[in-house]
Order: sequence, then structure tokens, then C-alpha cells
Amino acid sequence: MPSKPRVFISRVIPQHAIDLLNRDTDLELNQEDKPLTKGDLIRRIQGKEGLVCLITDTVDDEVLASNRLLKVVSNVAVGYDNIDVRSATEKGIMVTNTPGVLTDTTADLTWALVMATARRIVEADRYTRAGKFKEWSISMFLGHDVYGKTLGICGFGRIGRALAKRARGFDMKVLYTDVIRTDQEVERELGARFVDKDTLLRDSDFVTLHVPLIEDTVHYISERELNLMKPTAYLINASRGPVVHEGALVKALREKKIAGAGLDVYEHEPTLSPGLADLENVVLVPHIGSASIETRTKMAVTAARNCIAALKGERPPNLVNPDVLEEHPAP
Ligand code: GLV
Repeated sequence: MPSKPRVFISRVIPQHAIDLLNRDTDLELNQEDKPLTKGDLIRRIQGKEGLVCLITDTVDDEVLASNRLLKVVSNVAVGYDNIDVRSATEKGIMVTNTPGVLTDTTADLTWALVMATARRIVEADRYTRAGKFKEWSISMFLGHDVYGKTLGICGFGRIGRALAKRARGFDMKVLYTDVIRTDQEVERELGARFVDKDTLLRDSDFVTLHVPLIEDTVHYISERELNLMKPTAYLINASRGPVVHEGALVKALREKKIAGAGLDVYEHEPTLSPGLADLENVVLVPHIGSASIETRTKMAVTAARNCIAALKGERPPNLVNPDVLEEHPAP
């Protein structure tokens, strides 16, 4: 019987996915729930044909070049900016991600940030816990309404569209912007209107970010964009940290150029920009967009299936660099 392909998992993932991989591969796992150093990652992938990794692993050219046996890098995430895809393609290595399974969970978290910022939920929780709620007052913790307002969605992919669906239940006007306009039928169905980025920033009460992190989206929101927003508007980032110039955001929040922000991701994650955590008008969560038990399990299982398919010589369901198949056809 031919030996099983060798796979390394860089960090603990849900057991169901480990069981799947165990059945079809010769598996080695970093048992610790913390990222390996680059040196350790390079050392541990030697002799392996598959790598299942997480967004905390930087799989750059040096890592990819260190192992000529590597056939697939399977990311347990929809975003894959932690992997040098161009280098992988050049080397004939497939890269896969986990789209679809986390769409609604991430949209739910984004919605939670919309509600939490507008209605000052976290600030009010801190106040109540601190024993400061001595007497009700008509002007206590006044926020802004969400229902009936204008939502501006930047990046109208799966997650952006899922957000538009939620906004309909709140009778909101929905604007969106993207590099290309979507089908008019989809727009009609979701009640969303395509506008350019500056119009969206000027007209929205809530601006939510769902663009992938690529060269063109680094600092997609910077001082110029923040200056275009209404002083009563909120910025919500559930995409990737470097999409927002965090220094400019801290300044805008401090100077009340915008009303508040809800952040799931950070420019220098996990480090926060100076001053960010001191502000009351921000809600900060630690990159938990897809963090439900159900969804994290589905993501890990999807990554396991992608890895197994690639090592069986099949096209993995979620291949992000299909060019690799043309440039390096299977023997
Ligand atoms: C999480 O950030 C993901 O990209 O899945």
C-alpha cells in the first residue's frame, strides 16, 4: 500500500478536522495553541507535503522555499494575506482557504459591533459593573439609532451582502461600493445601491469594511476618508487591520471627527495603536469575526478537506491560485 502523504498542522484546530486528516494522511500537529516562530515552522514542515495553517502563521517565500516537497498550504481562514500566494504559485504549491462557511457568523459579529457602538453597550456595561448606576436619568448613555439609518458597505462580496440582508430588517438604506458593480438583480434583491467610495463615506451613518487585504486596500480608510465621514457616523472594521490607518483613526476619534468605531482587527495585530484603548467611543474585540463553535469547526473541516483533496491529486474545492494547475499540471 502506498504510504500516506505527510501533513503538518501548525496549531491546534477542532478535533473533527484532525480526525479527518488522520484518516487520510500521516499527521503531525503542533499541540500548542500558540503560533510557532518562523524557524520552528520551517523545521516542522520539512518532509511534509501538506501544511494546514492559521492566520497567525506567516507563510512567506522563505517558508515556502524551505521545503520542495510541499504541495498544498491550506489556510483555516477565508483571508489569505498571511501567505505569499505568488511565491506559492511559482513553486507549484496550491493555496486554499475557507470561504462561505464563515459568511453569516462574520456578518453577525459586524452587526454586533454596529449595535454595540451605536447604543454604547460596552461602555454602559463597564459603568454598571463599576457600581456607578445609582439613579436613572433621561440623558444617560444616549447613543444613535440604527434602524432607518444609512449603512455603507465597502466590499460587496459574501460578507458585505450578508450585512445588507441584516440591514433590511432594520429598515436601513443600503449603499455599497466595490471595484466592480454587482448584478442589478442582486442589488434589487438586497435593496442596495452602488455608489463611489467618497459618496458612500459622505452619506453613510455606519461604514462597514469587508474588503480583502491587498496592496490596493492598505489604508483604504485614512485621514482623507475619515474627514469625509459625518461627525455622527461610525466605522466598523471586520476585514483586516491594515485596511484602516489606525493612527488616523485614533486622531479622528479623539477629535470627534466621527462618532465611534467598532474594531475586530488591528493594523499591528495583536498590538493596539497608542491611545486606542483609552478611548470610550470604540468597541474593541480580538479578531473574533468567525468565532462561533459551529463556524470554527466548519472552517477547520473545510481546510482539512481542501488539504486531503490536493494531496489526492484532485482540484481542492477552495483553490485560491488556480494558475498553479496550468503552470504545474499534475504528472
Ligand atoms: C478570519 O479572519 C478569516 O479570514 O477567516
